[in-house]
Amino acid sequence: KVTKEFIQGLPKAELHLHLEGTLEPELKLRLAQKNHINIGQQTIEEVKAAYQFDSLTSFLQVYYPAMNVLQDKEDFCALALDYLKKAKEHNVKYTEMFFDPQAHTSRGVPFETVINGYYEATLQARKFGVEANLIMCFLRDMPAESAMETYRQALPYRDKFIGIGLDSDERNNPPLKFTEVFALAKKDGFHITMHCDIDQENSIEHIRQALLEIGTERLDHGTNIVEDPSLIAYIQEHNIGLTCCPVSNSFVVDDMKGKEMLELLHQGIQITVNSDDPAYFQSYISDDLYALAQKYELSQDDVVQIAKNSFGIAWILEDKKKEYL
Ligand code: HPA
Ligand code: ZN
Repeated sequence: KVTKEFIQGLPKAELHLHLEGTLEPELKLRLAQKNHINIGQQTIEEVKAAYQFDSLTSFLQVYYPAMNVLQDKEDFCALALDYLKKAKEHNVKYTEMFFDPQAHTSRGVPFETVINGYYEATLQARKFGVEANLIMCFLRDMPAESAMETYRQALPYRDKFIGIGLDSDERNNPPLKFTEVFALAKKDGFHITMHCDIDQENSIEHIRQALLEIGTERLDHGTNIVEDPSLIAYIQEHNIGLTCCPVSNSFVVDDMKGKEMLELLHQGIQITVNSDDPAYFQSYISDDLYALAQKYELSQDDVVQIAKNSFGIAWILEDKKKEYL
């Protein structure tokens, strides 16, 4: 039997983590008071009670309004730093953290406030032994023009993030909607990843577009790929991994999708386990891995392989990976 302590102690990389999804009720209340923002709740218990969802859509409806409490650079820094301290407790050596600039610029917060705050937290985390990089995500339910404008806004800060991702509501927002901006980002030397959420109307077509048309280097979620052996062969050949989030899945589709993860893992696909939005799903990375291990009776070898995969598909130099393992 794999214990919680064993899982927590394993060196890990976390690669699917939305910084805006790390907003714990305590910080939300503190920032609401500091910035004089009425969030409609007065106590931790009330905030927690409002964290209720049973689908991606209902989750996003709680998630975006909460971000109002984030106003200045210090707020963004505090949010990321709280997560990075938690990551340290879970023996996360390295993390690539998503952030959603449009969720902030659309309500009047300058791009530079967001990126400078988050980046400052990565500098501080390095001092306590957690290495972190940023991945800028576009909100796929906003127009392609907005993504392009965001990309242009970001270019002066290009040294502060290493990759580009795609998140938010996937319905009717296929990868191909963003062909132009991803092609540009790729040409500029950024890494590329994108969400292919669980059980979408066109999951396989979206995965196909992400892999073959956009040229993504990873799939965030992406377990519907089990339905298409030719796409599995493709990611095997190109060493493209999946960043899976079992507890998040159990909230939004009522299924951890552990069966699919294990099937792929045992075919040698680089499956990783991550927390997605840990404050909302009340589950940090070790909790996710433990929940999966318990429910699907993972062997110690499976768990170790998953941890190794997280470094395997991280966007860091091979020498660094050896140092962490
Ligand atoms: N999917 C899409 N958008 C998101 C997610 C997710 O898992 N988490 C935060 N924004
Ligand atoms: Zn996600």
